Amino acid sequence: MELDVSRGTDIAIVGATGKTGRAVAAALDGVAVVRRLSRSAPDYPVDLETGAGLVEAFTGCRGVYFIAPNVHPDEPALLARALEAAASAGVDHVVYHSVAWPYSPKMPHHMDKARCEEELRAFGSERGLYWTILQPCAYAQNFEEVLTGSPSLVVPYSLDTKFSFVSLEDVAEVAARILVEGAERHHGATYELGGPEMLSVRDVVLLVETMTGRSVAMESIGVDDWMRLHGSELSPDAHQRLSAMFEYYDDRDFLASSAVTATLLGRSPTPIRALVR
Ligand SMILES: NC(=O)c1ccc[n+]([C@@H]2O[C@H](COP(=O)([O-])OP(=O)(O)OC[C@H]3O[C@@H](n4cnc5c(N)ncnc54)[C@H](OP(=O)(O)O)[C@@H]3O)[C@@H](O)[C@H]2O)c1
Repeated sequence: MELDVSRGTDIAIVGATGKTGRAVAAALDGVAVVRRLSRSAPDYPVDLETGAGLVEAFTGCRGVYFIAPNVHPDEPALLARALEAAASAGVDHVVYHSVAWPYSPKMPHHMDKARCEEELRAFGSERGLYWTILQPCAYAQNFEEVLTGSPSLVVPYSLDTKFSFVSLEDVAEVAARILVEGAERHHGATYELGGPEMLSVRDVVLLVETMTGRSVAMESIGVDDWMRLHGSELSPDAHQRLSAMFEYYDDRDFLASSAVTATLLGRSPTPIRALVR
């Protein structure tokens, strides 16, 4: 990856201190000048709830990668603030981190991402901003603990639901390529990013057991029981959004092709077995 510096060298990542943002920042390090933005970011503190710090942090950037906080009650409002700031700061290209299957009426946080996609397309067309959308499926790294040694896994949905787990590092590499290759090449594109296999949680656990000789106790429990154990800190809105997602996963598979992922990476996407340690 080589940066055409005629449009500047700096790329801002909104949400850079989170799980996704750290991976995208790592993929861009050494290629572009990375500005890490979030409330706790030391160099570029920003607040998407108020817009504080955004214009200053975006000024001089060629591109912005926008990652919303997980299951936020109003993601479109956060994106609207960031887009206004990006336009005021003269940013060329905004890349929005969406999700596979955004239009899923049973999952409110996916529906908010569908609204964000529409907002981005409309804003881009009205204000002359280049845009690109990435739609990753579930990350393989959501199961990092089991892949790297935990002896048990409890999920609030069926152990047999299939997912096209995509490696977060592959998603980050795609994001970095798009930001580096730039606006003209990727403007107007919506890329769905699946991994190379369709696997259930049961398949993943069996793979880990076979590859490592470890045994992993797996269990599916009810959403309410899971929430009592893990969701006590969540707001009622986040509780409801996550519960809806788990109920959806209990009901049907969540799949996406790896064809676009492979094309954008220029190589085969990472299979789960490569992440097992
Ligand atoms: N996990 C998956 O499989 C998957 C798949 C596809 C898409 N996604 C999407 O990826 C996104 C990010 O997920 P994640 O797990 O990386 O989230 P995360 O680890 O919780 O990170 C969220 C980031 O947002 C920042 N943030 C929170 N509130 C903010 C505010 N008011 N102003 C500015 N920054 C704020 C956080 O930093 P501070 O707290 O310091 O501000 C942090 O850097 C979500 O929208 C999720 O839906 C996830």
